[in-house]
Order: sequence, then C-alpha cells, then structure tokens
Amino acid sequence: MPFIVAIDGPSGTGKGTVTSYLAKKLDLMYLDTGATYRCVTLKLLKENVSFDDKEKIKEILKNISIEFKKNKVFLDGEDVSLEIRKNPVNDNVAKVAELQEVRNSLVDLQRKMSENKNVILEGRDIGTNVFPNADVKFYLDASQEERIKRRLKQNKEKGIETSEEEVRQNIKARDESEKTRKLNPLKQAEDAIYVDTTNLSIKEVENKLYKIIKKKKHDAKWIERGYIQTKNTIFKRARRAIVKGVLASLYHIAFRVKKTGLENLESDEGFIICANHINYLDAAAIVLLNNKKIRFIAKSDLFRFPIISFLGHTFDVIPIKRGKNDLASIKLCLKALKNNEILGIFPEGTRKGLEKQVKIKNGAVFIAEKAKVKIVPAGIGGTFKPFSKVYVNYGKPIDIMQYKTDDPNWIDNASQAIMEQIIMLTNKKD
Ligand code: DC
Repeated sequence: MPFIVAIDGPSGTGKGTVTSYLAKKLDLMYLDTGATYRCVTLKLLKENVSFDDKEKIKEILKNISIEFKKNKVFLDGEDVSLEIRKNPVNDNVAKVAELQEVRNSLVDLQRKMSENKNVILEGRDIGTNVFPNADVKFYLDASQEERIKRRLKQNKEKGIETSEEEVRQNIKARDESEKTRKLNPLKQAEDAIYVDTTNLSIKEVENKLYKIIKKKKHDAKWIERGYIQTKNTIFKRARRAIVKGVLASLYHIAFRVKKTGLENLESDEGFIICANHINYLDAAAIVLLNNKKIRFIAKSDLFRFPIISFLGHTFDVIPIKRGKNDLASIKLCLKALKNNEILGIFPEGTRKGLEKQVKIKNGAVFIAEKAKVKIVPAGIGGTFKPFSKVYVNYGKPIDIMQYKTDDPNWIDNASQAIMEQIIMLTNKKD
C-alpha cells in the first residue's frame, strides 16, 4: 500500500523546505504541486494566452509536459526551476490556480505522478481534495508578517530581486484569493495536524513532523499486516484454543456472565451477529464465551498495537478503515461468509455510539444483502465492573430482505430497525 503525506498551508510557512527535507529523510517522492500551477502560468504567459480563453487553455493543458528531476522542474523539457519563482509568474499564478480546467487537469496529473508511490506532497488542497485519504496530513501556518520576512530572505538567497512591499502585496493578495476562491480553497482538513511555525525554526518544524510521520509509517505497517489472513494451520488452531481458554477463564473470574438465546446461533451457514457496543470487553463476551468461532470486525487502527495485532490474528479479526470505503475489508467479510463463517459487527461503529447519538452504520446490512445471509441481533448489558453481571442475549435470526424496498435509503432504515431489536434485547436481564 502506498504511503501518502499531505502538507498544506499558505505560502511562506516553510512548506517547501520542510517537505524536501522530509522526503529525503523518509525516502518519499517529493511533489511540489505549487510548481505545477506555476508551470502552467508560465506557459500561458509565454504564449500570450488570455486566462478567459478556455478552449486554448484546454488545448495547452492537453499537450503540456511537466516533470520533476533531481530537484529541478522541467516544462516541456526545459529547466524552468528559477523562472517559475519570478515576478510575472508570482503575480499571475493565483488567478491561474482558480481556473476549473487547470485545477482538474493538474489534480489528475498530481494523482498520476503519485500513483503506487510513497509520496509527500505540498500544496493547498492536498489533504482536502487531491488525497483526502492521505495517511498523514499537516496544515502549516505562520503569521503573515513572519511569512513576508521568510519569503524576502528566500528570494535573496535564490538571487531573486524583490522589494519588501512587493512581497507584502503578493502574499496578501495570494492569501486572500487562496482562502476565498470557490474551487478547492485553502483550508485545514478536519483530520490534519495544525502546526503554527511562527516561533519555530525550520529544524524544529522538521523534527516535529519527522517524528509524527515516522510513527504513522510504523503504525501503517502494522495496520496493513492486519489485512494479511494467516492460514488456519494446526498450530494456529492450537494457539487460538489456548489463548481462548486462558482469556475465557479470566473473563469468568472477572464477571458473572449470563447468556440466553444460544439456539439462535445454530446454523451451518454463515451469518452476522450485530451487537451493541458499550465496553472494550463486550466483543470478548461474544468471541470467548462461545464454542463457535466468531470473527469480529474492528477498526484497523487497533492493529497498530502489537498485542492487539497478535490477538487479532489469533481470532482472525477483520480490520476496517473507519470513514473510508474499505473494499479490502468488505472482500474479506464476503469471503468469510461464503465459507460459512460467523462475523461480529457493532453497527454503532464506536463505543457507546447510541449515547453519543451517532448515525447507525449500515455496513452489516450492506454485507448481509451482498452475501445473502441473516443477521442475529445481540443485546449486551452490564456495567463491566469487576465481579458484576454481564448479559448477552441473542435474538432470532433476521432476514434483512424483509426490509428491502425501492427506497434508496432502505439499507439505513433496515440498520436502524435491527438496532432497535438489539436495544430490546439489552433490556432482557433475567
Ligand atoms: O506553493 P506555491 O506558492 O508555489 O503555489 C503557487 C500557487 O499555486 C499559489 O497561488 C497557490 C496555488 N496552489 C494551489 O492552488 N493548489 C495547490 N495544491 C498548490 C498551489
């Protein structure tokens, strides 16, 4: 799986320097997306194309060649690394970056250049638009005055002559246009890490980001391993039996467990158990205290902890990436059901989801329909305080096809109806 780092923020926050350093240090391909907008701007200026001439711009975009080689930028084979940083381009690039056809074409190009690579991209809309599923996202910021100072210093070092006033006007105008434009404006992605660099040296910013990315890279490796299904060898079965036996004994010491409706699990065909989720220990009540093998679906992030990864593989837990269309996970679920295995899913998607009033996830019904299997509702009750009672009540298998209608929202409605049955089962205490 490619690893993607997105770095967004206004100009003058040190994005370029930091990104180039991180790319080298972490062996990631560096993509300066701003340079792609600068190349298009340079070409339009050179060919005297009006920014209103949509047809001509489209034609230019079709034939343009932008390449990055050894820290240099090539436009149609010519090294333009310096030219794209100079004034005619500086003054016009924001206008060009607002054009729909330019954005569409360059976002495509940026995605293509990154295909199947471990990559770090810097720009304005990477985390929000180009790669909304990036593994790590940062939003670098700094006060406007500090950014003006930095840009002046950078220009001097590159031998580009500009006055302070010119830089000030340019940064102000670009900030305004980048943050207020209609198409993919500059804004922090919800899941981006905000870093204010005003009072930090470049080294400090580099170190901070390096540590975070390094950890995420390490976590990503463990998470990916969660998707590798290990063979059900005799050793694995023995390992599972031993671990299950030990943990089940501990569970019985910690809680007094009462189960009802076990007859509802008697089927030779695959099915899905849907339960409420109140505590980290409730999946264990279903998996450990059952003579059948039940494979739970858990958020993939959990696999970053080696001990959970070990337990996950022992019990063949299926990882799922939250909030993303995780096709790999869905495929594993469908395959398991086809093999007549039993899956466990928490439709709340998170602990105490009902209390938090989250929208009930519809994945279980979606998978049940695709695999043509039934859903067994399970209500779990108890405080999970040591030596307290834990109830697990299984209800009758539900054929979800009874809920299927022409209404495009039927899967959501069916998920809600199943959740209501689960809630009823949580109230059955004796
Ligand atoms: O990062 P930079 O200053 O080289 O960017 C040049 C221009 O391109 C800037 O006005 C913002 C725009 N840009 C964009 O709209 N989206 C990106 N992903 C990167 C840059």
